Amino acid sequence: MSEELGILIGVTKPDQVTFESRRPVSIGEYVILNYGIDKVLGLVEKSSISSDALGSSIRNYEEAFESKQVAAENRRDKSYKGYVRILGYVAELKKCKAILPALPPEPGTEVYEASVKDLDAIFAPSGQQWVMIGTLLRNTGVGARVDINKVVSRHLAVLAMTGMGKSNLVSLLAKEIARISGTMVIFDYHDDYSTLDMGSNNINLLDGRINPRLLSADKLAEVIEIQENASNQMHVLRLVFTEDVKQRKGDDFWDALIHAASEVGADKLYREAAAKVVDKIDDARRKFHTILDPSMTDPLALLKNYKINIINLVELTERQANIAVSFYLEELLDDRKKATRQNKGAAKSQPRFPAPILVAIEEAHVFIPKDEDTDTKYFASKVAREGRKFGLGLVIVSQRPRGIDANILSQMGSLAVMRMIQQDDQMHISAASEALSRDLIDQLTSLNPGEAIFAGQWVNLPTFVKVDEVKERKIGGDQKAVEQWSQLAALKQQAAKESSESYIPSGYIQD
Ligand SMILES: Nc1ncnc2c1ncn2[C@@H]1O[C@H](COP(=O)(O)OP(=O)(O)OP(=O)(O)O)[C@@H](O)[C@H]1O
Ligand SMILES: [Mg+2]
Repeated sequence: MSEELGILIGVTKPDQVTFESRRPVSIGEYVILNYGIDKVLGLVEKSSISSDALGSSIRNYEEAFESKQVAAENRRDKSYKGYVRILGYVAELKKCKAILPALPPEPGTEVYEASVKDLDAIFAPSGQQWVMIGTLLRNTGVGARVDINKVVSRHLAVLAMTGMGKSNLVSLLAKEIARISGTMVIFDYHDDYSTLDMGSNNINLLDGRINPRLLSADKLAEVIEIQENASNQMHVLRLVFTEDVKQRKGDDFWDALIHAASEVGADKLYREAAAKVVDKIDDARRKFHTILDPSMTDPLALLKNYKINIINLVELTERQANIAVSFYLEELLDDRKKATRQNKGAAKSQPRFPAPILVAIEEAHVFIPKDEDTDTKYFASKVAREGRKFGLGLVIVSQRPRGIDANILSQMGSLAVMRMIQQDDQMHISAASEALSRDLIDQLTSLNPGEAIFAGQWVNLPTFVKVDEVKERKIGGDQKAVEQWSQLAALKQQAAKESSESYIPSGYIQD
């Protein structure tokens, strides 16, 4: 048994106890108590230090100064308290079961530091599905692993304020999934992942593009930016977006669409609307020529099995991105259903993806918003409900959890939460998920970048983790304005000096 840390005091409860400690204790530290039939693990959820001499009744500086000396001389002056949540018998936790002793421990029960051996067995179990993500925050000698099987089957939400390490964690998961030759699709809305370097051939980078021929008339209207309430224009588009037009490829498609819309304009009733539709098509064709591609083959065919597929959405408008993401979600779910049926010997055609896939959606509050029905929300909700059966996992990432649909959030079986100070974000998460206790949520304000609480099915226990930093990620970090400005100024100065030395008239260097 390791060193005695303290002794239980006050009223004890089966799941919560307080101890008086020899030293200050950190939030997130694990402790061992000996009672019931075996060793029991506890987590320090709150910690305090108080001093008898330096109590809150002190009225002025002189009194504080004298009391400080009294406190320094008196060994009994300081009180270090740890408030502990009882997590369960150690032996059972090693088998992924949380069983609490029925009775509370007696006050006077000794509290010990948890040993690396016990913690390793609980937080870093062996087995291929347990991948290493970092270390325990307060016990840095102990690795923190997560169960990737549970991420794929029961989904994950990664939530934190901006710049706290969400994309870093997703990159780390991607790296680990690449290492075990898994298949992942990341919708990259801010070009955060294109420089992710796996040191091998495991990445498939592609630009998010949409084949307009595969859309419904309503979705085509959205991507070419026809307003929802422009009912005449919508009518014209529905009339002209015929099966025949959909068969045309490349420029032929746009020409046929414009031609058909102009023809509808012959009818006086729709002349104005048809002219606007022709303009919209023409504009979209020019403005979005890199995004709307009527000659592309099935977009699903661009994704590769057993690779990390990163779909760059940076050039797409929000509505276009929404349509692209929903398209992929729908198709991937269909394909995985087909694969599952095939395994049961019932599929008619070959699936593209014979093995499970993990899909990550950044900016989840945009794509899966609380107060609006988007296409992505519809299919994300389907994946959240049905994905488990078909091997399609969802990771939703957001810096604005309060903006995410509560229903979908509640279907995320696991959580990674980093620093978050907004009360309404915290309350939204706590209402949607049982995995995080109120006490844990209260700790979110005290976390630093890269520090997280993991909870839910991908861990045996709620865990405070120091997530490893993915060093190869080249962007996503903050831009250093002052350094960049001074570097540029120095370059300019240097250029000016060189040009004056070579008798080039001043003013030649452009500002
Ligand atoms: N585990 C970590 N350890 C150390 N530093 C980290 C860690 N995770 C992130 N950081 C630092 O924080 C910066 C921001 O990280 P990241 O891009 O992952 O944040 P984010 O939460 O995705 O931000 P945003 O909301 O803006 O997308 C990184 O460039 C890195 O410097
Ligand atoms: Mg990010």
